[in-house]
Amino acid sequence: MVKTRITEIEKNLFMLRLEDNETRYFEGLWRIPEGIMYNSYVLKTSEGAIIFDTWKHRYSSLFMRELEKVIDVNDVKYVVVHHMEPDHSGAIREIVKANPGVTVLGHPLSKGMIESFYGIKTLFKPVKDGEELVVGGYKLKFIYTPWLHWPETIMTYLDKYKILFTCDAFGAYSIFDVVYAEDLKGENIEKYRFYTRKYIATVIGHYASFVEKALDKIESLNLDIRTIAPAHGLLWKNPATIMNLYRAWSKGKSVRGVKKVTIVYSSMYGFVEKAMNDVIDVLRENQVYYTVYRFLDDERDDISGALGDIINSRGIIIGTATYEASVFPFIKYIVELIIEKIPKNKKVLIISNYGWGGVAGRELKKLLEDNGFKVVDVVEFKAGELDKYREKLVSSTIKFIEEL
Ligand code: FEO
Repeated sequence: MVKTRITEIEKNLFMLRLEDNETRYFEGLWRIPEGIMYNSYVLKTSEGAIIFDTWKHRYSSLFMRELEKVIDVNDVKYVVVHHMEPDHSGAIREIVKANPGVTVLGHPLSKGMIESFYGIKTLFKPVKDGEELVVGGYKLKFIYTPWLHWPETIMTYLDKYKILFTCDAFGAYSIFDVVYAEDLKGENIEKYRFYTRKYIATVIGHYASFVEKALDKIESLNLDIRTIAPAHGLLWKNPATIMNLYRAWSKGKSVRGVKKVTIVYSSMYGFVEKAMNDVIDVLRENQVYYTVYRFLDDERDDISGALGDIINSRGIIIGTATYEASVFPFIKYIVELIIEKIPKNKKVLIISNYGWGGVAGRELKKLLEDNGFKVVDVVEFKAGELDKYREKLVSSTIKFIEEL
């Protein structure tokens, strides 16, 4: 059952939050047992109200009911669409249906998307990059931030409260019972960092180079930003914290300079798992920080979580069987996602086994190297004969650690 929260974050500025614990696979793809939140913001002015983004389309009726607790929809003058993905633009049709006098403000591309996604014509005013608009004494400045996460994405700076509405950027998965990230305590601080990395890797990862461009652009504008208000997750009272995290993680770097390794493996009958346990022993002996994602016959970890851990790792260790003269299909799928979503500054160690002829190791090496990753070594062993290869397994793991 979803929950809602309305908070007046500044005078006349309300956050309408939906806590969505029903979506199990975000974008139909990423498993999110931690849930996700959608934040809409409503500013009441003497010239009418402005809504900044809405909620996921399936919750549009609920959005309208919650909106009515803050304002009469007939008092809405503008809806600012920062991004047309339906997890934010979902209630536009209902707002315009209730009040056809509403003008939608957004990137020029958004107009056609509104018409095609929702089958409606609206009053629409395209905004230019850097354009300012004063409504009821509040000055808005629109900033184009393309590919965060679609080409039409913009942000808005609300001058009076020094708040930047950033939509997907600086967002995260998860549901927490606080408004600001700085109010998280204890282990929740680290958990929220993980959910933020997971969100960057899965949603924005493919466009990660645009994060840096957007950060540079925002900094070059010399805005006095006191609050970052994304459309997913928690708000930030200290913008530098989340901006620095985004800058590091989008470039595939660890913020603290930790030599972290993420291990991903599948094992049908335990042969690969046995080898991976030996590799883990070597990591432990050398005090390397690691996380493990297993894809076995009795349990599977989350691919989305693996991506969230890989993005700030220095190295990846991949274990796979040879399967039908190729890489094990599930591992191949994960590696294709790594190639799509993760910066290439990772060292890779491949462990593979085979029953009668080894193929997976060299195939995986070629796939990763063709896509810019550095494969430090491949250890390929015959199933059941791991003892013969243990020396190689240990020396290759040490070589991998030295190169991190
Ligand atoms: Fe949260 Fe790209 O939408």
